[in-house]
Amino acid sequence: MTPSPSVPGSRMANRLGLSDRIFVGPRSRKLLAAIEDGLDRVEDELAIDLRMTDRLADSASRYLLEAGGKRLRPMLVLLTAQLGDGTTDGVIDSAKALEMTHLGSLYHDDVMDSSDKRRGVPSAHQVWGNNIAILTGDLLFSRASQLMSKRGERAMQLQADTFERLVIGQMHETVGPQEGDDEIAFYLQVLADKTGSLIAAAAQCGVIFSNAPEAYEAAVVEFGEKVGVAFQLQDDVIDLSADPEKTGKVPGTDLRAGVVTMPYLLLGTATDDASRALKSRIDAGVAEIAAGADPAILDEALEELRMHDVTLQTTALARAWSNEAVAALSVLPSGAVREALTRFADAVVDRSA
Ligand code: IPE
Ligand code: IPE
Ligand code: MG
Ligand code: MG
Repeated sequence: MTPSPSVPGSRMANRLGLSDRIFVGPRSRKLLAAIEDGLDRVEDELAIDLRMTDRLADSASRYLLEAGGKRLRPMLVLLTAQLGDGTTDGVIDSAKALEMTHLGSLYHDDVMDSSDKRRGVPSAHQVWGNNIAILTGDLLFSRASQLMSKRGERAMQLQADTFERLVIGQMHETVGPQEGDDEIAFYLQVLADKTGSLIAAAAQCGVIFSNAPEAYEAAVVEFGEKVGVAFQLQDDVIDLSADPEKTGKVPGTDLRAGVVTMPYLLLGTATDDASRALKSRIDAGVAEIAAGADPAILDEALEELRMHDVTLQTTALARAWSNEAVAALSVLPSGAVREALTRFADAVVDRSA
């Protein structure tokens, strides 16, 4: 399907080949049309809903929206909504609210991770400074709450609970494991909280607001949460092997900033001399960068980490989480929606952007 030029998000999803990979075969054609129509509506309405009377707030709050993005979360809301009455107004509102929540978290995240690029453009703090980037994130969260409040108490509660988990995930990531915590289990919990929570909420909102059978809710929540962990694990691999043209991010940003990722954690469990030496070089480089050295000093070490078996192990782990996500769908009726969700889980791991 050729998306209209007025819908950058949907166009981006296609550019990254997501729609083409998720909706395969004649059974999916009707479904794809419904999802694309929904995504177009989400896109058009987001551009209107994120207008602000204040001029600076207006341009800052639509800055990342207009820069691109895959619109994975709205796509998932629209997809699980097809298990019920399809694209209702509540489905559209929740899809928009969750994308706004995601967007707001990106403004904040780039400040916290000192990431200079997002969605192919300089991150908001690069343009306006940290304070405006943080406040713009707050504005997006406010607008998301306003939208959900239109949908009643349950929707508000869901939005608030999800946001709380996302924030706790980011906080735990920042603080790191405490004594006695298993580092890998702790990290996986961080991923479930900071990313799985929102993706699970997306899958859940589709079921709730389309009046789909209640029995599907727990299944899609488990699916979303596990897909979220798989997604974030693959994000760690992408952070190492990133083609900046495709990802719109600077490769190795997380590691250079000392943000722990799964390949690095797995490297820490390796006992051979070469792995230990590589870990020491990375740690020393991170400390030097923190003290003002050029982040490029880690280029070679990061390339070695990319080629190391731990990076393959991270992809294998992402695949395992994605498979578990698919297993959670067993209570859903077989058909185009379940097939598309299965492909969604595959595409999340098998991606380079
Ligand atoms: C990026 O999410 C932040 C994470 C949770 C890893 P996406 O990869 O979905 O970002 P966009 O929306 O496509 O920019
Ligand atoms: C993004 O997380 C923000 C949230 C999940 C809330 P990351 O820091 O892991 O993702 P990128 O790599 O910046 O997109
Ligand atoms: Mg982060
Ligand atoms: Mg980040």
